[in-house]
Amino acid sequence: MKYCFDEKIDRSKNHSAKWAELGKKFGTDDLFPMWIADMDIKTAPEIVQAMKEKVEQEIFGYVYRPDSYYKSAVDWLERRFGYKISEKTLIHSPGVVPSLSILVKLMTNENEKILIQTPVYYPFAETIKDNKRTLVTNELVRDENGYYTMDFADLEEKLSDEKVTLFILCSPHNPVGRVWKKEELAKVGELCLKYNVRIIADEIWRDIIMPGVTHTPLASISKEIEDITITCFS
Ligand SMILES: Cc1ncc(COP(=O)(O)O)c(C=O)c1O
Repeated sequence: MKYCFDEKIDRSKNHSAKWAELGKKFGTDDLFPMWIADMDIKTAPEIVQAMKEKVEQEIFGYVYRPDSYYKSAVDWLERRFGYKISEKTLIHSPGVVPSLSILVKLMTNENEKILIQTPVYYPFAETIKDNKRTLVTNELVRDENGYYTMDFADLEEKLSDEKVTLFILCSPHNPVGRVWKKEELAKVGELCLKYNVRIIADEIWRDIIMPGVTHTPLASISKEIEDITITCFS
């Protein structure tokens, strides 16, 4: 099957938020919209074909998720990242951002603090503030080449605050573009274990990385880290 990444697609009748809401969001349409992770390439033909088959059934009532749905997610994780999980640990959700909000409510109380590493995808901070939790930030460090690393001394200091009970990790990281190394992730996990902080690992970008780079699922590093981690992927 051939994939075309060069075709220019007219999205004017596509109800595309990225293009059509520029004026509403930023006050002018004369901008290049890089504010949302929405691509201007056609969906893969295999996916379109599966959707056409569904449409042709002409019935759209309540559906259930068959075992094959969970098995495909488990097999993908094992094939791509060498990490084997049980299907029983998977929970379907309408999206990663709704999951963050649900998890923040489930895992913390209003008097608790939640740590994020800035700059980071803006809904992390919004979710924390909207749910009346206190936001704590650990700034990422940028070198002269634009390469970001974690400030582990500051991270440890922030995690040692007993009010900090949850850390939302972005891995790979949006927007700094880092695919965190296994050693970096292991250090994050060890610090969270040391200070009793649970982790939500947003790994939505795990499949879109440069060739030659390896993504390590945080929870695959050790059983102890797995036990304190909830991973979100899509
Ligand atoms: C780090 C990160 N998490 C989550 C999302 C969106 O997830 P969803 O559309 O499933 O809510 C994005 C989209 O850009 C993202 O960059």
